[in-house]
Order: sequence, then structure tokens, then C-alpha cells
Amino acid sequence: MEPRAVLSLDEIDLSDLGFWLRPWDEREGAFQTLRRENPRAFFEEPTDIDSPIPLPHGPGYRALTLHADVTEVSRHPEIYRSGQGAVSMIDLPPEMVEYFAGMISTDNPRHARLRRIVSQAFNPRMIKSIEDRIQTVADEVIDQVSGMGECDFVTEVAAALPLTIICELMGVPKSEHERVFRCSNLILSMGDPEYMPEGEHPIMAFLAAGAELTELMQAIGAERIEHPTDDLTSALINSNIDGESLTHAELASFFILLLTAGNETTRTAIAHGLWALTEHPEERAVWMADLEGVTPTAVDEIVRWASPVIWMRRTVAEDIVLAGDDLHAGDKVLLFYNSANRDERVFEDPFRFDVRRHPNPHLGFGAAGPHFCLGAHLAREELQVMFRELLTRLPDIEATAEPDRLQSNFINGIKHLPCRFTPKKPVSA
Ligand code: HEM
Repeated sequence: MEPRAVLSLDEIDLSDLGFWLRPWDEREGAFQTLRRENPRAFFEEPTDIDSPIPLPHGPGYRALTLHADVTEVSRHPEIYRSGQGAVSMIDLPPEMVEYFAGMISTDNPRHARLRRIVSQAFNPRMIKSIEDRIQTVADEVIDQVSGMGECDFVTEVAAALPLTIICELMGVPKSEHERVFRCSNLILSMGDPEYMPEGEHPIMAFLAAGAELTELMQAIGAERIEHPTDDLTSALINSNIDGESLTHAELASFFILLLTAGNETTRTAIAHGLWALTEHPEERAVWMADLEGVTPTAVDEIVRWASPVIWMRRTVAEDIVLAGDDLHAGDKVLLFYNSANRDERVFEDPFRFDVRRHPNPHLGFGAAGPHFCLGAHLAREELQVMFRELLTRLPDIEATAEPDRLQSNFINGIKHLPCRFTPKKPVSA
């Protein structure tokens, strides 16, 4: 896909939802213009959000579009803070803090403490132990559709693996997976009409989804206190570092952060992966010719290509100069990972989908720093297993229509993607 510069610099408004509904090539064209002509452009915050609870009107933000700036900011959390007003574009009002101000919106020393607690439970050894499970679930997901010859790739394939794995990790029973799917869609999409309950205001629906997941956590948590298991929720409830354990509110927001972060992002990457393979049959051929050898680089290229999380925010704690631009205490900066991942200063031929790209210093999981994605290892494993299985069992699978995209400036989501393939018997049949 080549970028199309249909907007001039003055016409680009990243705060306008309309911008995010433009075709991908136009969006890419706009970010290319920003990188070239004003890589740290200032934007007013959206003013037209009709909200039943008061939202603070913020000072606007700088859109950081270069790989070097996103890297620099992520590396200096003492200057570019996550806990000052959260990592959302608009500061979180108090009603939302309880559910949504998880570890991702904290700074040291609190962040280090929370990350230590969760990392204990969420380490490569634990992920290793679920590798077999990822393989089994991926097989089951493909079994469900393999005889059909066509399906909705997002809801029936891409969503099913990460949802099942994260729910199992957290100890969410199967009967509640659908609820987690619905609530995490609501929380991360924040406004796409498809996910909104009839007649409900998006912000109230967002809060209700947070409350619903908290209730679920309370029920599972109470059970785990009585009967600990080896799931993540048990580990979090019983974690105790230097005599400290998680407070009730911390536990609730952790639960919500893990369920939402572990779900929609990986689903988005898998869906973009199929779309990219459909549009680039020559890259599929390269991958299939050496499935084992190419899978690791292909999966990272899918994450770069998809950039499932479009941005995260930081707030400047002290006056500082960033690449020649003066920033002042209280200024907001948005780290546009999607743009950093197409930065022509870093990536050769950035608009080429190249399954063998190496090196590939993409920032899809964030840049190096304390907030780097906790689930990167898990997500890579899920993507590797899923594509290895798909390309082995349904090798001609392809999308049959354009993706139906999520209306969001935050997640580069795909809601539906019809696909077809030569039907095969399920392996378990
Ligand atoms: C392809 C899939 C994924 C992508 C693209 C992705 C992307 C990201 C990004 C961009 C960040 C922010 C980094 C920063 O602010 O510096 C992040 C943080 C995080 N991610 Fe992921 N993620 C994915 C999968 C997962 C999974 C499977 C989980 C796990 C359960 C997860 C859990 C988290 C958590 C807990 C944080 C916050 C870490 C912190 O603040 O210390 N993510 N992710």
C-alpha cells in the first residue's frame, strides 16, 4: 500500500474522529506529511465530546510522529510521565480512575512495585508452560471453521485465540468469556456504534463495562482466596513483595488492563496479518516456502504493519527541549507508534510488507522503557502458533472483502473480515 497525500498539513486534524475514518492510504499519507513537515505538530483536544460526566478540557497535545522522538520519550519516564492524568488523550475524570488507571497509568515508585508483582506471575517460564495450551486452542479454533470453507475471520478465528488464552490465564470460566469479549470491546473501542448497547451513552457504557469486569474479578478473587489455583488471579491476590500486596482497586484495574490489553491488540494483529497476506501473495509464498524459518520475522512484521495500538500519551514533568522544540511542564505528548513504524529514517521501504524484514526495530509493543508491553512475549507466541497452523492447515485462506474497520483513533482495529479457503476436515474429526 502506498500512502496518498490528499490532505495538506493545515487540513490534518488528529483530534477529529473523521480523520480516523479515512482510508488507510490517506491516513498514511497524512502521517508522512507530518513526519516531513511538522513531526511534533500541536493539536487541540477534541471539544465536541458530549459527555454526561464532566471531562476536563485539556491544553492540547503534541503529536510525536518520528521513531527517534517516541524512543527518546519512552526512555525517560522521569520526565515524560504516565501517571500525570493517565495515558489517555483526555485526563481521566475521578469516576474512571478506579477502573481504568491501572499500572499503565502510573510512574515510579508505584509502577515498579506493580510491575514487579505482576511480572512475578507473568514471566517467560509461565508463558512457556502455556505454549502447549496455545497450540491446542489454536487447533480447536481452526477445527471450528475448517470444514466451512468461509467464515468471519475476526470473530471466528482472530478473536477466539487471545480471548480464550487471556481468560484461562486469569481464571475466567468459559461461561464468562463472551462477557469479557463484550466488555473489552466496549472499553477499547469507546464509541464504535456496533458495540454500544441500544440507547446508552458511550461513556456510561464504558463505565458500566469497567464495573462489570470488576464484579467478575471480585467473584473470581473471592473464590481464589478460599481455593488458590495456579492462575494469574491467584498469583496476583496472593502476591506479596516486601510485605506489600495489591489493594482492591489495584487488583480490579489490573484485571481490566490485562483482559483488555491481552485481547483486542492480538486479535487486531492476527486480522491485519490475513489482510496483508491477501494483498501480498508474493510474501505469502515466501513465508510458506520456509514456514519455520520465516515465522519469527513475519510475526514482527505483522505487528509493525498493523500497529494495533496507535498511540500512548505521556505528560511532561519539567521544561525540556525535545529535538529542538521547547516543551513545558504539563504539556501532553502523544507517541504515534503507527507513524514511528513507517518512519523512512529508520525503515527501508517502510510501505512494503516484508515477511523477512530484519532488523525490524518496530515500536508496535512500545519503545524500550518501563512500560514496554508486558504481553509482548505472549502475543508473539500466539501469532506464531496461529499463522503456522493457518498456513499449514488452510494454506489458501484469504480475505474476500475489505476489512470492516473499528471507528477508533486508538486501536487500529478490524471488526469483521470475511474469508474463504478450501474446506478441510477438522483434525479432531
Ligand atoms: C499484538 C499484541 C499487542 C500489542 C500491539 C501491544 C501493544 C502495547 C503497547 C503499545 C503498550 C504500551 C507501551 C508503552 O507505553 O511504552 C502496551 C503495554 C501493555 N501491554 Fe501490550 N500489546 C499487545 C499484547 C498484549 C498482551 C497479550 C498482553 C497481556 C496480557 C498485554 C499487556 C500489556 C500491559 C499490562 C501493558 C502495560 C505495561 C506497563 O505499563 O508496564 N499486551 N502493549
